[in-house]
Amino acid sequence: MRNIREEYGAPSLNADELAANPLDQARAWVDEAIAADLPLPNAMTLATATADGRPSSRTVLLKEIDDYGLIFFTHYDSRKGGEIAANPAVAVTLFWQPFSRQITVTGHTERIDAQTSRDYFASRPRGSQLSAAVSPQSEPMERSELIERIVRLEAELDGGDVPMPEQWGGYRIRPDEIQFWHGRPDRLHDRFRYLPDGEGGWRIERLAP
Ligand SMILES: Cc1cc2nc3c(=O)[nH]c(=O)nc-3n(C[C@H](O)[C@H](O)[C@H](O)COP(=O)(O)O)c2cc1C
Repeated sequence: MRNIREEYGAPSLNADELAANPLDQARAWVDEAIAADLPLPNAMTLATATADGRPSSRTVLLKEIDDYGLIFFTHYDSRKGGEIAANPAVAVTLFWQPFSRQITVTGHTERIDAQTSRDYFASRPRGSQLSAAVSPQSEPMERSELIERIVRLEAELDGGDVPMPEQWGGYRIRPDEIQFWHGRPDRLHDRFRYLPDGEGGWRIERLAP
């Protein structure tokens, strides 16, 4: 690992090329990653922490960036859900290696409304719906038990729609800081931080790499 040296060759990124709103800027970078067919262009590392500050992280999929924040879906009674309930402060990182780009976000989570979660749940493939319905996410469990639960549920449903589990749904991360990192040669990377300007907008500052 010590001998791996990546040279980042991305062209320069200047403040005047950035959107005034960091959510618009984030959407633009995600859209470019999707358009370029990068693998898992919407995967992000989500860090949560217990009330006393013990952190944990995992990958989740970003499903929407709306006017207020970044939305992902999960089980509310998972480990991350429990930590968010005790401490809504989170951080996420998105990284696109071929573009030498990273976005980091810190903010606070809130549950999105159940109807929006139900609409999204209904759009998922049936297999994903079934596994979400039977999986007590983050609890110890044998695979055979999961499969048995799916078989039982399929029999109960008899071809009917899979109802969204009560403890499943979306979270919105409302950012209080977003950083955009753009790899440049010789480690002279471009970094910009958005912070609230106190008047409902954002101010942008360049940071040392
Ligand atoms: C590429 C990838 C995408 C994932 N997307 C999600 C997701 O959108 N929601 C989710 O709950 N778990 C997702 N997972 C699984 C999580 O990383 C994690 O194992 C799970 O949410 C339980 O986390 P927790 O026990 O920390 O709560 C994904 C894993 C990978 C590798």
